[in-house]
Amino acid sequence: MPEIVFKGKEYVYNHHLTVPYRPLVADAAKGIGPADLSGNLIIHGDNLHALKSLLPRYAGAVDLIFIDPPYNTGNEGWCYSDGVNSPIMKEWLSTNPVDGEDMLRHDKWLCMMWPRLVLLRELLSERGSIWITLDDNEVHRARMVLDEIFGDENFVNCFAWRKVDSPNDNKVAVTPDHDYVLCYSKDKSQVQFSPMLALGILDAYGSKDATGRAYRDRLLKKNGKNSLRTDRPTMYFAIPDPDGNDVYPMHDNGEEACWAAGPKGVEAHLQAGTLIWKRKEKFGQQVWEPYTREYAPDIPTRPYPTIWADLPTMRQSKAMLRDIFGTVDVFDTPKPVELIERIMDLVNQPDALILDSFAGSGTTAHAVLKANAKDGGQRKFILVEGEDYADKLTAERVRRAIQGYAWSGTQREILLEEKITLTQFKKADDWLKKIDAIKRAEGLADEADKGADLVEQAQASATSKRKRFDKIESRIDDGVLRVEGVRRVSQMADGLGGEFTYCTLGEAVELDKLLSGERLPAFEALGAWLFYTATGGTLQPLPKNAPPHYLGEAQDKHVWLIYQPDLRFLKSADAALILSRAQAMQQWGHDHDVARGQPPKGHLVFAPAKYLSNKQLKDHGMDYAPLPFALYREC
Ligand SMILES: C[S@@+](CC[C@H](N)C(=O)[O-])C[C@H]1O[C@@H](n2cnc3c(N)ncnc32)[C@H](O)[C@@H]1O
Repeated sequence: MPEIVFKGKEYVYNHHLTVPYRPLVADAAKGIGPADLSGNLIIHGDNLHALKSLLPRYAGAVDLIFIDPPYNTGNEGWCYSDGVNSPIMKEWLSTNPVDGEDMLRHDKWLCMMWPRLVLLRELLSERGSIWITLDDNEVHRARMVLDEIFGDENFVNCFAWRKVDSPNDNKVAVTPDHDYVLCYSKDKSQVQFSPMLALGILDAYGSKDATGRAYRDRLLKKNGKNSLRTDRPTMYFAIPDPDGNDVYPMHDNGEEACWAAGPKGVEAHLQAGTLIWKRKEKFGQQVWEPYTREYAPDIPTRPYPTIWADLPTMRQSKAMLRDIFGTVDVFDTPKPVELIERIMDLVNQPDALILDSFAGSGTTAHAVLKANAKDGGQRKFILVEGEDYADKLTAERVRRAIQGYAWSGTQREILLEEKITLTQFKKADDWLKKIDAIKRAEGLADEADKGADLVEQAQASATSKRKRFDKIESRIDDGVLRVEGVRRVSQMADGLGGEFTYCTLGEAVELDKLLSGERLPAFEALGAWLFYTATGGTLQPLPKNAPPHYLGEAQDKHVWLIYQPDLRFLKSADAALILSRAQAMQQWGHDHDVARGQPPKGHLVFAPAKYLSNKQLKDHGMDYAPLPFALYREC
């Protein structure tokens, strides 16, 4: 597979490994509900560090990643500041922010994205997928990078979202009105997307059987392409009609045709009672013609299109943000909530863990809360935003979405939505009458066709309730007629409910700093990181009867950490792995495993010192990993 070459690639290739682990520090006052690092999170900090901090708890656990990174348009003001230890890249820091004049801006963007994408992949679950919005500035380079990091076999699709509803520059011949949404899976064989609900499909099932089930009958004779006996010889055979005469497929011009099903298929219909004979007149004679009966699906669906022109645009998402904050443009590039809802519908996991590490105005959290409120789902979100507005914009929007907010703006309600087929299009007058009827029923007789029946109008306005709308708007978009009631409102938008914890990133856990005792992380922070680096797994809630020093269990071992962020303790004999401790650990592990019907696992113990021989360790099924404090003790 061809690989992309860019300046700095060799330095960022494994940069994610050198990024220090920094624990998440909850700021209870800025969240909603009790601080809980396993619940919804909004993290203020550089996402490279934040993603690393999430690994111990969430590696392999995120089901959906949506990111909307800087598009590298040349005027976004983003900076390259990852502190990669290479002279050329240190020089890059002096030419921040990255603007359109910068000849290396594509290299810088790729260097910025590479380690983040590697970490995002580590966080993704086996059934998970990543969705990335971009435009023509970087989409082609991003695909090459994603092919390399995720594997080109895991490319799912590139969707186009129509982001503007009128050209944004009338002086040029061509102006892009769409963004891309790239989708890759962690493992395409495990990802299961849902098709789109398409109620319009039910229109084709116009008949009802005695039990009320909707169905349609389709001629068994094939028509059109490949419909001759010579095209499908095995599908030309006799079927006895209700009078016992053999019927062969025959076109009206006398040519021998073929059935749309083979002998086995026809037999299956006969057994199921879905082969239907109808009496028809042909060339002045009554003949029997076979049909197959198809019942309407319980849930009508169709594959999602890759062009998303039916979603709100940037203009509408900015208007939504204006409504929430009650002020003019607080953020330039919010995505519509509906775009993320569309992705969540496709992913269709009501318990999904959803991560957005370029959070901006917090649209992703808003979409998650909205989806949960709508379907009772248990989705969770993790947002990361590096700018200072993480609190005042990102988190504040989420607070308002949860608690509700005073709102004044335009509200729309769909009153009629119909797919207009060519046949329906020919009945334009009927549709116009329907629209007029809606206007009258809504007490907007003035807007209805002046030529309509006056008696009907008078009746409608007499019976109409209080006016619900200021006006009725109708339009046809992509072959769908929509009639919407529009009203100006000033009211309280209902809160969607929910909670979140606001966090920052704590001091880096650097094992070499333990040597000097200079920086001692909390037990949980060090434990989470050691557990992840030793096992590649994430810490789970402890069992109720967990003894002191227990971190958790991996597939083949129990992991322990003898540690307190206290110099005196670390230098004392209390911090050592001694025989009685090893025995107690082994006994507890044994009982715990046997109680769950599992074979006893081994043990890995992190501690500053041990007073056990290698043989004693082996006898207790134990591996010992020294904390750097052991060295300190000897200094
Ligand atoms: C295009 S905006 C995302 C907009 C968002 N989708 C919305 O609907 O509001 C990109 C965001 O990523 C943030 N960002 C860029 N680089 C970052 C980094 N290294 N760490 C954290 N956030 C970053 C920017 O501050 C900006 O808010």
